[in-house]
Amino acid sequence: MEIIKTIGLTKKFGDFIANDNIDLIVEKGEIKAIVGENGAGKSTLMNMLYGLLKPTAGEIFIRGENVHFDSPNDAINKGIGMVHQHFKLVPSLTISENVMLGIEIDKKIIVGKHSFSMPSIDHKRESKVVQALIDRFQFGLNATDVVKNLSIGAKQKVEILKMLYRNVEIVIFDEPTAVLTPQEIEAFFKTMRELKQQGKSIILITHKLQEVMEVSDSVTVIKQGKIIGNRITKDTSNKELARMMIGREVLLRVEKHYQDYSEKPIIYEVNNLSTKNHEGINVVNGINFFLREGEILGIAGVEGNGQTELLDLLTGLLKSTSGTVRFLGKDITNEWPDTLRLEKIAFIPEDRYEQGLCTDMSIGENIIAGYHGNLDVCKNGILISKKIAEKRNRLIKNYDIRVSDCEGKVSSLSGGNAQKIIISREFDADPLLLIAAQPTRGVDIGAIEFIHQSLLNIQKNGKSILLISSELSEIMSLADRIAVIYKGQIIGEVSGKDASREEIGYLMAGILERSHENES
Ligand SMILES: Nc1ncnc2c1ncn2[C@@H]1O[C@H](COP(=O)(O)OP(=O)(O)OP(=O)(O)O)[C@@H](O)[C@H]1O
Ligand SMILES: [Mg+2]
Repeated sequence: MEIIKTIGLTKKFGDFIANDNIDLIVEKGEIKAIVGENGAGKSTLMNMLYGLLKPTAGEIFIRGENVHFDSPNDAINKGIGMVHQHFKLVPSLTISENVMLGIEIDKKIIVGKHSFSMPSIDHKRESKVVQALIDRFQFGLNATDVVKNLSIGAKQKVEILKMLYRNVEIVIFDEPTAVLTPQEIEAFFKTMRELKQQGKSIILITHKLQEVMEVSDSVTVIKQGKIIGNRITKDTSNKELARMMIGREVLLRVEKHYQDYSEKPIIYEVNNLSTKNHEGINVVNGINFFLREGEILGIAGVEGNGQTELLDLLTGLLKSTSGTVRFLGKDITNEWPDTLRLEKIAFIPEDRYEQGLCTDMSIGENIIAGYHGNLDVCKNGILISKKIAEKRNRLIKNYDIRVSDCEGKVSSLSGGNAQKIIISREFDADPLLLIAAQPTRGVDIGAIEFIHQSLLNIQKNGKSILLISSELSEIMSLADRIAVIYKGQIIGEVSGKDASREEIGYLMAGILERSHENES
């Protein structure tokens, strides 16, 4: 049975056509994957199905009924739920309070002769109901735990609980795995299969084609706002999907030439660096590493082992409690971000919207942010708009950033294109050292190939890169040396050329003995 059907669904932003005559069919009980380049129109389509955007033209049918949504509440009432890439939870509330938010029961309150109704939650009862749901799906959570203390994977489960509680029949996931660790992805797949078993239908948007192949029943490919093909998953391949999306063969792996850097000078040195979090726990606990000129050092690790705090320390956002950072012989410990930029250290932060961009500002303003004092766009302290526009247009062209309106705000960009704004800005600064965290998070496979190739080009020009990524394959294909972070310490290092996934995996789990076992 066709649970969702759209006919001629179209969305325009001004003159720009983000969705063009989309005829989409989702069958009941299937996992439908939707793939396409950054800016192809995937999120726009989902936002129309979820009542966040109104179609410019076309119709949506749910179980054969023609529907018109004014808000997500209307969509939920028709059984459609959506889990966004950027979670929409209230950190200070508990899991069950988050689940209940917005659907509290109106309680009649009588004061003297007057009566009025107020939204209220029966905390005890609700946390029991939510806990039962948690147990049924084996989510391993505690309904009374506060959301802010949860891992990203657990937060996603709370978002899923919200949908299950509202009894939706169709769940839309927009890039659910982009921020999850490999273990969390496995758990997420299990949940998805369970939802399917219960007869729910799922729409999955992802850039990871191996996930499409592993978990979906059918795939729809979107390109520049149009559906360009539908496939049954078992009748297609990674390669065919990549070709349909991008229009050419995509190298799913870059060619890297390894060389010996041991004679090159050390340019960046981190010694015994530590910091505490607000609870007084040593989250970075005596970290030591160095980088030689022209080298790429990868830092691998399960998320939550101090990577975020280490990055904040290295980029001037957090103060260390002890230890030093030296760059080209100079002590730069606890220097401000702008001082570090003047030293020609550039950063790609792990969370693009939190730290890399100001979404309410224009693309041009974001492209010069952090470098706005440079002489190419600023004279005697005054910004020159013509120069900013020139720089913006040059980067949009060179980095193939897909924008509907180059004068627009960053908030109008698709997720992957927003990431490309940061990439272009930091690459264009021509740094001596690039600190890159999750550089390809949320970008399409064509852009991953481009970013990986560009990172290798930066290296070819003798520049150094510190690469922090939760994508093991990314680190393994780019880094010369791979250091593994565990509980705030570097617990081991392997050569990028000969490292095995297994060996790094053991280090990531904090297991050191393994290497001795192999020797004996
Ligand atoms: N509110 C908006 N105003 C103007 N243009 C928009 C708006 N929202 C989206 N767009 C444009 O519509 C196009 C499609 O965006 P959409 O977010 O649907 O892409 P996507 O396929 O989800 O990409 P990604 O994989 O990068 O998330 C983009 O070019 C984007 O710039
Ligand atoms: Mg999107």
